[in-house]
Amino acid sequence: MTAPLKNDLFLRALMREPTPRTPLWMMRQAGRYLPEYRATRAKAGSFLDLCMNPELACEVTLQPLARYRLDAAILFSDILTIPHAMNVGLEFEAGEGPKIARPVRTAADIDKLPIPDPEGELRYVMDAVRLIRRELGGRVPLIGFAGSPWTVGTYMVEGGGSKNFQHIKGMLYGAPRELHRLLEVITRATLAYLNAQVAAGAQAVMVFDTWGGALTPADYREFSLCYMQQIVDGVTRQSEGRRVPVILFTKGGGQWLADMAATGCDALGVDWTTDLADARGAVQDRVALQGNLDPSVLYAPPAEIRAQVARVLASYGKGHGHVFNLGHGIHPEVPPEHAAAMVEAVHELSPAYHS
Ligand code: CP3
Repeated sequence: MTAPLKNDLFLRALMREPTPRTPLWMMRQAGRYLPEYRATRAKAGSFLDLCMNPELACEVTLQPLARYRLDAAILFSDILTIPHAMNVGLEFEAGEGPKIARPVRTAADIDKLPIPDPEGELRYVMDAVRLIRRELGGRVPLIGFAGSPWTVGTYMVEGGGSKNFQHIKGMLYGAPRELHRLLEVITRATLAYLNAQVAAGAQAVMVFDTWGGALTPADYREFSLCYMQQIVDGVTRQSEGRRVPVILFTKGGGQWLADMAATGCDALGVDWTTDLADARGAVQDRVALQGNLDPSVLYAPPAEIRAQVARVLASYGKGHGHVFNLGHGIHPEVPPEHAAAMVEAVHELSPAYHS
């Protein structure tokens, strides 16, 4: 038996139901800005070892909740667990980001890719979800996640992070049918993975499309949004007697919010380059919005952080359907007290928007 949720503000806001204040969490809330995270990662050995150890992954998932009054936990893992389970040779080199030893660039490379079994090669993720749910004891909901097929595809084809997306854009314009085949495989793997996370206890799911903003509008629809649509259509939307909301986030996707809302998702993540008032106008109350404080605001002193939180809340304005968050992941250099100033400001200033 799972304990009933004591704080469901996050799930209610995602459904645009009334809440007494604006709930919040932080993208990358378990991460290098926390000394206790760095200590646990050192104990694990490496970042991948940490992801693959359910007890330690659970420990770091809960660390930010012990410090801050947050309204959701997010599974500690990575979007690259799927390529890792597809045997492309993923490694994280300290300070350098992900590296893939065997990039996927030809039809023959695509033919070789397996669809990982979420309760097989990826069982460590599902075990982490089950353990986190148990340890949370209903304090706040748990968010599961995956990368968008396009974003995961960029790492698989480029062999790591990229500025110009030379190889995948070469494929997009030179061999689009092969690229579609690759994105279909990733989509199938991602749906199985997300549905297993929901079955294991994830109470909302978020799809991170970090690199969709690198596409032209037409290519965004054909190579990124179309596959996120398949995920929205195929992901389990009801579990434990409740709706499982789906959040889509395309970084740099501010001009496509109306198209994203039309997928039938429940909420959209918004980065800091779009004003929330404009975003709200674009989606016309069809979906909730999550965001969008510039993560660099957390470099500023607490008084300025509070003023910038006030601006984000005012920009969304009165009414429900807003989940406060950063516009992208928290930076590793941010002092933990600065994150606390943001959290406290949301608690103090947001009730005025819900009266
Ligand atoms: O939000 C959370 O707290 C949950 C954990 C989480 C991580 N990665 C942990 C992580 C989530 C949701 C992700 C998603 C992710 N991973 C994305 C999409 C979101 C985004 O930030 O745009 C992407 C593109 C990745 C791929 C990835 N993982 C990169 C490019 C890197 C290296 C760059 C970096 O920020 O270090 C990672 C490593 C990573 N994933 C770390 C963490 C905490 C840092 C690793 C470390 O401890 O050294």
